[in-house]
Amino acid sequence: MGFLDTRVCVERFPPRLHRENATRRYDALGGPATVGAVAVVLLGGTASFWGRRGDDFAGERIASLLEAQGVDTSGYRVFPGTSPTCEVFIRPDGERFLFPYLGDGMPPEADWIPDEAIDGADAVLIDGRWPAGGLRVAERAAERGIPIVHDFDQNLPEVWKIASRATHAIADEDLADIHGGVGRLLEKIEALGAWGAVTLGDQGVAHRGGRVPAFPVTVRDSTGAGDVFHGAFALAMAQGRDEIEAVHFGCAAGALHCKFGRVPELADVESLLRGG
Ligand SMILES: Nc1ncnc2c1ncn2[C@@H]1O[C@H](COP(=O)(O)OP(=O)(O)OP(=O)(O)O)[C@@H](O)[C@H]1O
Ligand SMILES: [Mg+2]
Repeated sequence: MGFLDTRVCVERFPPRLHRENATRRYDALGGPATVGAVAVVLLGGTASFWGRRGDDFAGERIASLLEAQGVDTSGYRVFPGTSPTCEVFIRPDGERFLFPYLGDGMPPEADWIPDEAIDGADAVLIDGRWPAGGLRVAERAAERGIPIVHDFDQNLPEVWKIASRATHAIADEDLADIHGGVGRLLEKIEALGAWGAVTLGDQGVAHRGGRVPAFPVTVRDSTGAGDVFHGAFALAMAQGRDEIEAVHFGCAAGALHCKFGRVPELADVESLLRGG
């Protein structure tokens, strides 16, 4: 799902007064699959984003941010309603406080997504923010036998259903905590038949065969590192690479995203992988 993030830098949070000046304000693209799609394009692939938005300014802005990065938005459908947005307050120490609003007015059904949306793809990347849409895409992708990468970060029955259709379910640390730790969650994912992994921020990525360490970087902004990781991983799967190579590629992309505070390009990621 696409979100319009409003990022506001503040001197302190929570505030003490009813009115306190912000030191910086900017809007940015948010949402796992949207930021993942941008990563796919900047890393040398092509991406079509399929999702729903409201007929409002935020939705137009999300679409234009996607288009400006070269993501195909012909499947980003407009409905009367309010688009998803997220207010993000950032403290000087880098700590973030997020207030996502999931939007309203957008019908949950996903039967309008045509088979052709999936039939032209070499892999699909699915987040759990629109479960019916995720399932629709996963089921068609499964029929075609292409990689189905799931950015698994919500403990909801309908999102577990997406994970059960995925070929690769890569969770975040919060989900592992809820399920009794990384090892237990990986067992549960594997029991569903998917290749499982858990991203651990600056500790890298745990998978059933071990752990790939993170690339050490000086962090400017880590917002969206997981989204970029998943986009890079999905691209590597589409290119026919193996999982461990894809994890290294994703870790390099995620680390550079933290370092630059923006989605990195292929040349930077390749240079980091070569030890540059
Ligand atoms: N501080 C960091 N230094 C180096 N690499 C990082 C850092 N933070 C993240 N990464 C890389 O990006 C990957 C994904 O990050 P992370 O585990 O934070 O995702 P996440 O929890 O899904 O976050 P979000 O969804 O908020 O972007 C990590 O596995 C790691 O490879
Ligand atoms: Mg994430």
